[in-house]
Amino acid sequence: MEKFYPDSGVEIQGFTAKFYDKIMNVMTFGGYNLFIKTAIKSMEIHQDDKILDFGAGTGRNALLMNKYLSGKGEILGLEISELMIDQFKKKTEKFRNINIINQRIDQPFELEKKYDKVFISFVFHGFPFDVQKQIIQNAFNALKENGEFIVLDFNEFITDETPLYFRIPFKKIECKYAFEYVERDWKQILSGSGFINFEEKYFLKKHIRLLKAKK
Ligand SMILES: C[S@@+](CC[C@H](N)C(=O)[O-])C[C@H]1O[C@@H](n2cnc3c(N)ncnc32)[C@H](O)[C@@H]1O
Repeated sequence: MEKFYPDSGVEIQGFTAKFYDKIMNVMTFGGYNLFIKTAIKSMEIHQDDKILDFGAGTGRNALLMNKYLSGKGEILGLEISELMIDQFKKKTEKFRNINIINQRIDQPFELEKKYDKVFISFVFHGFPFDVQKQIIQNAFNALKENGEFIVLDFNEFITDETPLYFRIPFKKIECKYAFEYVERDWKQILSGSGFINFEEKYFLKKHIRLLKAKK
């Protein structure tokens, strides 16, 4: 499948898509597992939450989020990669409250219901700025009043001021949109789209942030 945004690093394909979870584990020397569990815990999921997962990936995050849900809570993943969708379906097949659809998050869409949380994990940094603004709009439209847009991604920083152990892999692995992403003021941008009451939690020496924004 051809990339929609050739310079994006989040349109994951082929081998990387097929072995995404394993690659994340190996690249972080096994640390990713604990990190993602802690990050998802700090989402403060309520047991009846209806959660939309933008760029849901393999279903690893959905399974972790589902631990906090009762039978009434729901997760719907939006994904474009069939390789990811297949893994998501396999991983979550036991749970009728977890589903996934092939849906682009970078273009306007309508869903049947509104959600308590829109979660986007390591997807947002990988798009041009005008597309990120569309994704914010899509999250806003999909949320109930008081719903939360939760962005787990890189924090804001000046790349050349980060320590070498972070800067070298970041510059090597990440795409050009990520370099622009980290230098923007996202609370200000989200405010401009109607979001309020920001909360932030930091991970990995503040290089990663979970940003919550209320509708
Ligand atoms: C870096 S992975 C992160 C996956 C998952 N959120 C996680 O944290 O493990 C990025 C994901 O976003 C998906 N993606 C990329 N562009 C997308 C788009 N326009 N709409 C929906 N999903 C997209 C990719 O297929 C991939 O599964």
